[in-house]
Amino acid sequence: MCGIIGYTGKKNAAPILVEGLKKLEYRGYDSFGIATADGAISVIKKEGRISNHAGNAGTLKGTRGIGHTRWATHGIPNDKNAHPHTDCTNRIALVHNGIIENYAELKRELIKRGHVFRSDTDTEAIVHLVEEEYAKQHDLPEAVRAAVSRLKGSYALLVLASDEETIVAARMASPLVLGIGDAETFIASDITPMLEYTERVIFLDDGDIAAVTRDDVSIYHNCERVERPVELIDWSVEDGKKGGFAHYMVKEIYEQPQVFYNTIRGTDDASLPDYYRMKDPITIVACGSSYHAGMVFKYLLEECCQVPARLDYASEFRYYPSPASGLVIGITQSGETADTLVALRLAKAHNCHTLAITNVLGSTVTRLADTTFYMRAGPEISVAATKSFIAQLAVLMQIINKFCGNNHSDTLLDAHTAIEEVLLMDISETVALCENARSIFYVGRGPFYPVALEGALKMKEISYIHAEGYAAGELKHGPFALLSDKTPVIALCMPGETYDVMISNIKEMKARGSPVIAIGRNGDTNLPEICDVFIPLPGANIFTQILTATVVLQLIAYHTAETLGRDIDRPRNLAKSVTVE
Ligand code: AGP
Ligand code: GLU
Repeated sequence: MCGIIGYTGKKNAAPILVEGLKKLEYRGYDSFGIATADGAISVIKKEGRISNHAGNAGTLKGTRGIGHTRWATHGIPNDKNAHPHTDCTNRIALVHNGIIENYAELKRELIKRGHVFRSDTDTEAIVHLVEEEYAKQHDLPEAVRAAVSRLKGSYALLVLASDEETIVAARMASPLVLGIGDAETFIASDITPMLEYTERVIFLDDGDIAAVTRDDVSIYHNCERVERPVELIDWSVEDGKKGGFAHYMVKEIYEQPQVFYNTIRGTDDASLPDYYRMKDPITIVACGSSYHAGMVFKYLLEECCQVPARLDYASEFRYYPSPASGLVIGITQSGETADTLVALRLAKAHNCHTLAITNVLGSTVTRLADTTFYMRAGPEISVAATKSFIAQLAVLMQIINKFCGNNHSDTLLDAHTAIEEVLLMDISETVALCENARSIFYVGRGPFYPVALEGALKMKEISYIHAEGYAAGELKHGPFALLSDKTPVIALCMPGETYDVMISNIKEMKARGSPVIAIGRNGDTNLPEICDVFIPLPGANIFTQILTATVVLQLIAYHTAETLGRDIDRPRNLAKSVTVE
């Protein structure tokens, strides 16, 4: 994920782009750059944060330009990989948010035709494709249309040319919005950088190409001219600080449909080393939320692929005999968690093959592990893991899919729509039951047990209410002593082999006085009758049920903490990345 911005109008573009990028910096901040057109294209780009050293970026001349604040996915963060990227003639500049999955093939092709690449990014292939098309027909929107028809993956693009008044924008699975001002037009990843200039915006759809001048916007879809509605926004400049959200956590929760989709696409061609298929032992090591993602994986691996797996807290791994061979998977959002690094080092010393699943390019785990699979969550700022957990599930579900001969590809490619539905749900009744609770129990069976653990971790971490995740069958072996009208139970009760026994468990808890909030399948007629609150979820398969249940529990934790006025993004006593054992 990254932030992009474009401006065309009567004012000098550079200072507007610099200020806009500062507002978009939450989306990525390992490097930044801007390009303006003033007869020729001028570019300034640099490793680091624009808020720390914009340098002379704001002094570039020209009344139209584009800017980018990067979160590297292909090529380490440095000056040359920073965007904008330019073509061989230096007449075209381009910024990109997203991932081009077929860039390697395109790059080989373009190099054969004589193009010179100056960065290691996937993005640079696009600017050379535009260059070729533009040379053929000298029509920038048409050149961008032809170039993007070659791309696989996700993109929000802005293209600036030295001898064109028009900035061209294109979008596929990465956000892009136009801001219509008074003789000036903005284009950006979200509305925050344009809030102080206009309240009139147009949201582009996937597949749209927009030709933007200071007075006009023309949008094309499948080569046809289309009209998209101008919407009025009532956000204030102040709202814009976190993209209009009150906290980074809720913003990150709302990014999850895109994050899941990007990660599924980004791992689609992940090649599994041969011995995965030979059913050598698999061990998973991780901490916190990453451990819960590992536990979901273990259940699914055993159920869908009949492959047994061992799961250890990374901090406990050394206290059991190490596996003597096979694969050890370390799951870590930050790539810097000391316990996970220590466990992987130990596994390597025992000649195991190590696979890291991480979100951060160039993090320590990527240098340590034999193989790395990247999540595509973008920067996660809130201490509580939300979108990174969903991205971990995406990578792990994709591995299951590969084990199963790609049988679940369609389901996974479509799952983001169910997540979108859940984000619109009203959960206020549940929050009202949780905010005064002495303690909250979360229960589930099978793969919903780790989902319950994750839900409880979110609640305790940000609301400071004591919460415990339990395998539903275990509650009667002790914790029943704690049940009362002050200890609500959140029960994950999905159709399938655990359904009937979950219903019995729910009745037992109700009989001990606990209010029960049941999360189940849309259309369930039993649960509304026996529970205090029923939250119906979309999703007809185990993958979407796990994802949507996770998101509902995140929302319950977030809104409870918000009602209690907690410091949600920086909960007391915690750090985002735990680099000590
Ligand atoms: C959960 O919300 C976390 N803040 C925490 O449990 C986290 O998942 C854990 O510290 C592991 O971090 P990692 O994924 O970066 O290794
Ligand atoms: N894939 C591009 C890169 O690595 C864009 C990343 C982003 O969205 O910031 O440069």
